[in-house]
Amino acid sequence: MSILEIIKPDDWHVHFREGDFIKSLVPETSKLYNRVIVMPNLSNPITSIAQIKKYKNEILNNSVNKNFEPLMTFYLTESLDVNELIKAFKNNLVFAVKLYPSGATTNSAKGVKNFKNIFPVLEKMSEKNIPLLIHGEVNDKKIDIFDREKIFIENELIPIIEKFPFLKITLEHITTKFAVDFVEKSNSNIKASITPHHLILNRTDLLEHKIKPHYYCLPILKKEQDRKSLVAAATSGSQNFFLGTDSAPHHINDKENECGCAGVFNTINSIQMITQIFDNENRLNNLESFLSKNGPNHYSLPENKDKIILKKLSKPLKFNKYLENNNYKIRIFNPPFPIYWDIKEELI
Ligand code: NCD
Ligand code: ZN
Repeated sequence: MSILEIIKPDDWHVHFREGDFIKSLVPETSKLYNRVIVMPNLSNPITSIAQIKKYKNEILNNSVNKNFEPLMTFYLTESLDVNELIKAFKNNLVFAVKLYPSGATTNSAKGVKNFKNIFPVLEKMSEKNIPLLIHGEVNDKKIDIFDREKIFIENELIPIIEKFPFLKITLEHITTKFAVDFVEKSNSNIKASITPHHLILNRTDLLEHKIKPHYYCLPILKKEQDRKSLVAAATSGSQNFFLGTDSAPHHINDKENECGCAGVFNTINSIQMITQIFDNENRLNNLESFLSKNGPNHYSLPENKDKIILKKLSKPLKFNKYLENNNYKIRIFNPPFPIYWDIKEELI
């Protein structure tokens, strides 16, 4: 199979940042995707309608795709104004709410410390059918960083699901076999997104010989058996899993630093590398489900009408190493294997 036509994909988890970054990130993303869920972890987290309106406008002003739709999120704090959330949801300004355990990742200091304190908001969200997007890691010094996803599921997620069985939940960027198995046996309101880099890398890739700061992301890369389990889940055709790139750029100086930031910038070659992964697994027949069908199904949205054509090349693709201008320089993620698939053209 060397030509594939699939429904144009969506990215259910992306970081657009602010200022100069936005001006390059939105064009690159809107070329490839029709809908994206935009993360709210700005330096001043998004918790109000006024912020959403301003941010969404800025994003739309930089789009290069007439069918591009940024789906905006509120950042869940223990003091989030429920009335503001309901009003924003009713007016189609907010699509979902993002839960960061406080301190778990970039710009998450204002996230949740005591999960019981957000139960009243979750109750309203369940009632109004507002999706909850979860960064599923505990932030606890006593818990080893490689165990934080599992412990979050056991100690925080299970009680939330038991209390709110009808709440639509996305366990985002899952990284472990434990999470895959958990989602497989959960009720149908719980689904998971998976990133390209967690499908490609394990913790040995990050740490062996020389440390690779551009492979450092949160949740941190796990063991090979976890990666394999993610690949099996993503390529299986199961409706429980869909793409969320978690493309999370940082300026190169903030990555190559004695306290380097977590986040991988993978937008530019995301669809091409995922296609290659599915090809390597002999699962190209399930690519469209993972990229373009399972996400809309989970969020009760129609599938995109546009299509894209993917073409297998005889020589590996070459990507630029950096996305840069006078004000910033961002390392573009490149997988440690050749990619032969490229996007040929768009059918509208
Ligand atoms: C993200 C970021 O930099 O905003 N970093 C990351 O490693 N994934 C935050 C997040 O999604 O955890
Ligand atoms: Zn993220």
